[in-house]
Amino acid sequence: MGKEENGYLPLFETKAVKGRVLYKLYAVSVFVGICLICVYRVKHLPAPGELGRWAWIGLFMAELWFSFYWIVTQFVRWNPIYRNTFKDRLSQRYKEVLPAVDVFVCTADPVIEPPIMVINTVLSVMAYDYPPEKLSVYLSDDGGSELTFYVLLEASQFSKYWLPFCKKFKVEPRSPEVYFSKAAEPVHDDIMSNEWSSVKKLYENMKKRINNATKQGRISDELRQDHNGFCEWDLASTKNDHQTILQILIDGRDLKAVDFEGQPLPTLVYLAREKRPQYHHNFKAGALNALIRVSSRISNAPIILTVDCDMYSNNSESMRDALCFFMDEEKGNEIAYVQFPQTFSNITKNDIYSSSQRVFYGVSINNNSTCMIFNHSVLESEELVVMKVELAALDAYGGPCYVGTGCFHRRQSLCGNKYDKECKVEWETQNYGKVKESVHVLEQTCRVLASCTYEGNTKWGKEMGVLYGYPVEDVITGLSIQCRGWKSIYFRPEKKGFIGVAPSTLLQSLVQHKRWSEGDFQIFLSKYCPLVYGHKKIPLQLQISYCCSLLWAPNCLATLYYVVFPSLSIIRGISLFPKLMSLSVLPFAYVIIAKYGYSLVEFLWCGGTIQGWWNDQRMWVFQRSTSYLFGFSETILKLLGFANSGFVVTAKLADETVSLRHQQEVIEFGAPSPMFKILATLALINLFSFVGGINRVIIDSKTEVLDQLALQILLCGLIVIINLPVYQGLFFRKDKGRMPTSVTYQSVILAIFAHLVALY
Ligand SMILES: *[C@@H]1O[C@H](CO)[C@@H](O)[C@H](O)[C@H]1NC(C)=O
Ligand SMILES: *[C@@H]1O[C@H](CO)[C@@H](O)[C@H](O)[C@H]1NC(C)=O
Ligand SMILES: *[C@@H]1O[C@H](CO)[C@@H](O)[C@H](O)[C@H]1NC(C)=O
Repeated sequence: MGKEENGYLPLFETKAVKGRVLYKLYAVSVFVGICLICVYRVKHLPAPGELGRWAWIGLFMAELWFSFYWIVTQFVRWNPIYRNTFKDRLSQRYKEVLPAVDVFVCTADPVIEPPIMVINTVLSVMAYDYPPEKLSVYLSDDGGSELTFYVLLEASQFSKYWLPFCKKFKVEPRSPEVYFSKAAEPVHDDIMSNEWSSVKKLYENMKKRINNATKQGRISDELRQDHNGFCEWDLASTKNDHQTILQILIDGRDLKAVDFEGQPLPTLVYLAREKRPQYHHNFKAGALNALIRVSSRISNAPIILTVDCDMYSNNSESMRDALCFFMDEEKGNEIAYVQFPQTFSNITKNDIYSSSQRVFYGVSINNNSTCMIFNHSVLESEELVVMKVELAALDAYGGPCYVGTGCFHRRQSLCGNKYDKECKVEWETQNYGKVKESVHVLEQTCRVLASCTYEGNTKWGKEMGVLYGYPVEDVITGLSIQCRGWKSIYFRPEKKGFIGVAPSTLLQSLVQHKRWSEGDFQIFLSKYCPLVYGHKKIPLQLQISYCCSLLWAPNCLATLYYVVFPSLSIIRGISLFPKLMSLSVLPFAYVIIAKYGYSLVEFLWCGGTIQGWWNDQRMWVFQRSTSYLFGFSETILKLLGFANSGFVVTAKLADETVSLRHQQEVIEFGAPSPMFKILATLALINLFSFVGGINRVIIDSKTEVLDQLALQILLCGLIVIINLPVYQGLFFRKDKGRMPTSVTYQSVILAIFAHLVALY
């Protein structure tokens, strides 16, 4: 840490994660185990005509896939690194010349994304520890909702008290909701105690008004008189058919825009871009591009932060952290974006769901096991648990992908520019906020930038801005930036930068994964496949690392095979694994024990618990057998030209595929979703097989049977144990969250049917 040769002190440092030699030894030993398994499979392949030949071949295929995928993941885990920043050096060196920063918050629907949550995010980013005159916050409201506008107006008033309060008492985190729900009232400090109570009261009154308005679903006439911005809604007909609505609620250039202590406030802008039924609006990507253009006219900051409305800033210094990368004199110039991990909290958890889910999320959060994944954030699958390691590894190869939220961008690279070594940014001479028109004129001139027709015949969405046409546009956007020669940084500070809300139901989580796996797989099969698109532009390791998550969906086939066929074969007495008392068992045992042992240790090391790890394994099976299956089949069907395949999982899911952004749907667990039917059927098949297998062993009472089928019965038993909550939901629970009876009947029938087919 410290001085380079010429006495230059860098603003950040990069270090390799320790203990990698051990990891590499472990990986090599597992690889040897995998090879031995393959040898065994080939050598003991049943002869043609022999019982179980096809089951054997299928199992071998599944194992080959697992091995291939495992090797792909090793690329991601081989060489992880981590970063440290030196914010004190930044402050010393750039006290007066810090660049302006624009923050984009996107929301799309006031019902799914409650306005109170949205403004907590807005307030938390307005309160960054950063010169307010250099900070502008833009809220993009794709719902075009009067309610959201009203709530933002309330937030702009409240910020006059909240911001000085935060700065004076160094409040953390700066989302008022989270702060007031967690912090204890300061009793020792009279001054703070007074202000604390009054700000808290202000917040609570505001919340009451907001909740009242939310409940009523409309804005009362008295409230409408407070601001003439509401007139805009007289012209707007519906949320999908309205003119651009742009209101600068706080104009940072205005000397009168100050908090109650007379300090300047950050600029605050409300934008609902124009929507017309005949124009495609390109979801969140379209909203971000409109924001990029509008902000270029108003503040034109060289750095842009994008956050989702459900992710509040948990660390008021994140902005300075990010700048340490961009402004480092030696290496900063080539950095296009700095991606922070997403962390989740259970703040909006609802009660409908079984406690196992609660425990699950609770565990993950409370123990701070950050689960940031390579391209999306979730808590609950093996791939994700180790994200710390994974993104860190991508970082080593030239940068993680863009995850869509919690990411600081350089405006230049986001706008489609190529990296140019010669082009040095002069942060202080950037032309921000130099516009001299009145607010009204400014609003008028910006409107056209957010109109439906503006992008026609331009490069927006193709080469400029966030790219269009794919469900997970963030990944492609990040990839294309990297392919233009830029680097990116994954920064994971000890104190998390952004905290969001995890899906609070099983179905939500499965549906979310379905969408991601589907979107990722589509990219893999498209012209943006990193192996093709990134060829010769980014390192091979980075290309392969991208594939790690782009290939989630195809995992479903091998997994389904593994959870169904070995179990069904028990009934027929077909042995698919080596005998318990043979040497061939060793590689199987070693690979399984090493892999799961390692994952358990890693999980615990991340701060998880054994119970959490176990739940994690369950989610792993659930996701692979449902989410990925649907994602995979839909992608393939689309490719074959069945655009609307009728593969609608639930009515709500149909909306999901339309409005890709929405993740927070409240869907009853009790819904008769096909996903649950699959889960229940799989669980029952294994239960019947297990009982059948035990039965066989007892009736035949020959050690030979036991010896031959032992591994299969063991595997089946494990699947049964992992599915215990499913049986509970099918047969024992009485509450509303249980499996619907129709699911129970159908899955019982399907499972029996599967056994009959297997028997005859
Ligand atoms: C809620 O709003 C209605 C009308 O908008 C108003 O009459 C009522 O007093 C409000 N209630 C509270 C508790 O603010
Ligand atoms: C979040 O989880 C904790 C412990 O797991 C629990 O005590 C708390 O009530 C949860 N919060 C909400 C809002 O569900
Ligand atoms: C969020 O911020 C609070 C207050 O600084 C801190 O105590 C907490 O550890 C942070 N959460 C995470 C997950 O880092």
